[in-house]
Amino acid sequence: MFERRNAPTTPSPTSNPACVTLKTYDTIDKDIEKISKGITDVKSRGRFLGGIVRLVAHDFMDYDRNNSTHPFGPDGCFNATHPANRGIASIIWCTTCELTLLYEQKYSHMSKADFWVAAANAVIRQTSLGALDLRSTYKWGRKDAASCPGAGSRIPNAAGCGSVEGVFLTRMGLTWKDAVVLIGAHTLGRGNSEFSGHDGTWKDTEEDAQVFDSQFFHEVLGNSWEPRNAGLRNQDWTIPTDPNTRLMLNTDLCLVYDIDDANTMPCCTGDSCVDVIAAATRCPVLASSHARYEAYETVQQMLGGDEPNTNINDAPFFTEFPESWNKATTIGLLNLSLLKDTC
Ligand code: HEM
Repeated sequence: MFERRNAPTTPSPTSNPACVTLKTYDTIDKDIEKISKGITDVKSRGRFLGGIVRLVAHDFMDYDRNNSTHPFGPDGCFNATHPANRGIASIIWCTTCELTLLYEQKYSHMSKADFWVAAANAVIRQTSLGALDLRSTYKWGRKDAASCPGAGSRIPNAAGCGSVEGVFLTRMGLTWKDAVVLIGAHTLGRGNSEFSGHDGTWKDTEEDAQVFDSQFFHEVLGNSWEPRNAGLRNQDWTIPTDPNTRLMLNTDLCLVYDIDDANTMPCCTGDSCVDVIAAATRCPVLASSHARYEAYETVQQMLGGDEPNTNINDAPFFTEFPESWNKATTIGLLNLSLLKDTC
């Protein structure tokens, strides 16, 4: 659809990011929709949509408020060769990727970092069927970095419960609420065996994985998740009886369950696990004395008082998401500006 005209450019520092108008922002939204609608394979479309939101997350999750030399954060830079970015570098931001081509052909006057956030906002608006429009709070003015050595190793490790606290609270200075709400973006897209080694969708179907809503929290609390790939690098959680390949990462279930303790593993988060050994032990939910208890409380709040997988009420998630998303996508940056009618 968007064909390459020029050879790929190496990232160059943008000293004065171009002003972004309301019109440019809206045009990006339309272009993302056009590309998305042109992808006929449902799995590929989900990966395109989810991958853009993930790209932005990988740009902000490398922020370190305690590192004055290399704070990183939203700077249009990620390490394409780092294993954590394998999927992004293969299908989202690469010399032949549709998003990259779109940027190079129409939006290279903006910083990549500003473009990525506008593109992700477009995905969120479209996949929430207009319910979550982040246009009025979008800010531009992020500067791209030419390189970000070591940024890849700051991306959270899906295996360890501790990486949520380490990345979001300690390094980024966000709250448990922010961490939980942002991870709720796993409502979109999927994990891929060829990229991260974690395969499947967090939601029930590939189609559901193209809807931005609060279902992720229902999935965490309402299902019988059992460990998969035990002892391997890609250990995660699944529902073997589900006709679709299902996925929860350790870091997702850690928001509710005390699964860091080897004494409780393997375990089952519900009462209908297939694996006999996992089924014998119910994964304990975080006790009120646990350091992550606030995460558990937030996941519950996201259900709006309903039982998991009964009524889906997106209001609590949609109320909280814009604030956490804006904090994360502007983290460490001063003097960003709201969209303008004209520049
Ligand atoms: C503890 C923090 C996090 C960890 C460990 C984590 C890990 C992962 C992994 C392993 C995948 C699968 C990638 C693949 O195989 O292609 C994934 C996908 C995804 N992540 Fe995260 N993630 C985290 C936080 C976030 C945040 C904060 C966001 C957005 C705000 C996000 C958005 C996504 C999306 C949308 C996908 C689907 C991508 C696609 O369909 O290609 N993640 N994440």
